[in-house]
Amino acid sequence: MLNIAILGSGKGSNAQAILDAIAAHTLDANIVCVLSDVADAFILARARQHGIPALHVDCAPFKTKLDGAAEQRVIEILRQHGAEVLVLAGFMRLIKGGLLAAYAGRIINIHPALLPAFPGLEAWKQALDYGAKVAGCTVHFVDAGTDTGPIIVQRAVPVLDGDTPATLHARIQEQEYEAYPAALRLIAQQKLRLAGRRVLTG
Ligand code: GRF
Repeated sequence: MLNIAILGSGKGSNAQAILDAIAAHTLDANIVCVLSDVADAFILARARQHGIPALHVDCAPFKTKLDGAAEQRVIEILRQHGAEVLVLAGFMRLIKGGLLAAYAGRIINIHPALLPAFPGLEAWKQALDYGAKVAGCTVHFVDAGTDTGPIIVQRAVPVLDGDTPATLHARIQEQEYEAYPAALRLIAQQKLRLAGRRVLTG
């Protein structure tokens, strides 16, 4: 069974999808703890509702990255709880070298675009503004870049006439809820390996 820690800043709907997959026995994993840089983030409340250790990590003085004492605290908590994989689910800070080294090749992220297109904030809005006809989501290993790293799973969704940022984002999120458990399933079953920047499955 794969021991997962989840790190997020927001409502935690992806964390919920992972919880649901575990409850449905379609993912052989255990969520050992949920961490957030936002004290009142709903992702922490969700974890507590499920009896999962939920901890706030104060990331001050940094505003956009996880670094320094907070980074060390995260590493300590992950080790205390026996986390094998760190799942970023709506975590709004950059991961820096210390955590990347401590969990090398074991940090994954979900991004609401078909990477490498549209990294960064509000990717669904970037896609819409650019006139993209296909959008989607990507689960990938995390490296030192912003929304870069070898891709594990992608799901495409059409951009429809009349889409607003909100309707497109909602359609992408529906796919996220399948893509993240699917990627974790591959990791839990050790059915993937890294070949350079590529993830080979099967
Ligand atoms: C998702 O759209 C994800 O792609 C992005 O942040 C959002 C997280 O939502 N990285 P939630 O907190 O899982 O509901």
